[in-house]
Amino acid sequence: MKILVVGSGGREHALAWKIAQSEIVDEVFCAPGNPGMDEIGPCFEVDPTDLHKMQELVLQISPDLIVIGPEAPLAAGLSDALRARGFDVFGPSEKAAQLESSKGFSKDLMKRFDIPTAAYGRFTDLTEALDFLETMTPPYVIKADGLAAGKGVVICDDLEEAENEVEAMMTGKFGDASTEIVIEEFMEGEEASIFVLTDGDGAIYLPPAQDHKRVGDGDKGLNTGGMGSYAPAPVVDARMMELVQTLIVEPLLSGMADEDMPYQGVLYVGIMVTASGPKVVEFNARFGDPECQVLMAGLPGDIVPALLTCATGGLVHGHREIAEMMGVNAFQPSACVVMATEGYPESYPKGSIIEGVADANAVDGVTVFHAGTDRDSDRKLIAVGGRVLGVTAVGSDLKEAVSRAYAGVEKVDWPQGFNRKDIAWRALK
Ligand code: AMP
Ligand code: GLY
Repeated sequence: MKILVVGSGGREHALAWKIAQSEIVDEVFCAPGNPGMDEIGPCFEVDPTDLHKMQELVLQISPDLIVIGPEAPLAAGLSDALRARGFDVFGPSEKAAQLESSKGFSKDLMKRFDIPTAAYGRFTDLTEALDFLETMTPPYVIKADGLAAGKGVVICDDLEEAENEVEAMMTGKFGDASTEIVIEEFMEGEEASIFVLTDGDGAIYLPPAQDHKRVGDGDKGLNTGGMGSYAPAPVVDARMMELVQTLIVEPLLSGMADEDMPYQGVLYVGIMVTASGPKVVEFNARFGDPECQVLMAGLPGDIVPALLTCATGGLVHGHREIAEMMGVNAFQPSACVVMATEGYPESYPKGSIIEGVADANAVDGVTVFHAGTDRDSDRKLIAVGGRVLGVTAVGSDLKEAVSRAYAGVEKVDWPQGFNRKDIAWRALK
């Protein structure tokens, strides 16, 4: 079987790495891929949001399954275009992917299906938005409706600051993505990420994960795409997981199926674990990055039957057997430390040389996933992005996984890189 993985981040490297271990897979292709993925299979330099070029590539390779990693091609309708050509695709339709690409769409769905989340208002009119804001209490949570590269949520303690933010967003701060905004109630609690593989009907729940969104130790400083992750996250115990299933995921999947937009692929439920149970912070239409890295590393079995069944249907009957093939119940505790270029998430230089990745990979339990890397003209590994490597490790417990991941980080020789020193602190404290 041939599988095409679409994307070029640490998440997609982890997916390609896991898929390549399957006994039923002969070849993994990547588009566009990265230097880590290049060691797994052929990479094709195509922009995943260019539907025309992507269709040309897929017709040329003729894969048995296409796995789409990032949100942008999903929001651009890549899965619909490839399915229309008769290919099996793991990833939601453009319509279903609005769960992530439009915050307003997703909040309205939650309201219709009675899914617990923060109370909110949705606005295209500045005066109405400002009037609504006055009825709220601080902290104020203001969100651009559309995709804003992870920067579209602002939380303000002060009303005047909040008013300025609302006005900035609605007058073009994020272009078209913020002409519409959502203002919502602040939720108190600890966040966690739940991932569900689904064909729109059946579902497989992966172990709960947690990421570290802030750039600095102690969860301080600017927001980033994610500086590290771990799973399982003890804040989501079996009881909480059951509530996520019955109060959030089941009503969402059946509601979307009833409304003729069945959700197929991986559903990412960002939850706040509050005193009154789990509440949805956001839905995403893809795996989290770097949560995917720890999930792929920790699953001891074969993930391909699950991906295939999600793409083709029938999961409701086979979910137990398929979850067993993946080894969900034998999940190994896993942690990922992201190494980023000094300066990230603000501006940072490109082109610094990275050495020692092979030594890091040689540490017991460690796998290094590439994100913003490239090769220079001498084939030396260089950093070309903000988040550059995801040093990931499994262990007999989380403590061992974390200490192995940091032992891997020690082997990487990259003076221009930095990483957080406290990944998984909430679980280890
Ligand atoms: P989002 O992109 O919607 O996940 O928001 C980004 C981050 O903002 C989340 O991970 C939370 O840390 C925070 N956040 C978003 N909405 C809320 C809320 N209603 N209450 C508290 N924190 C929130
Ligand atoms: N790690 C958070 C995200 O992928 O959105």
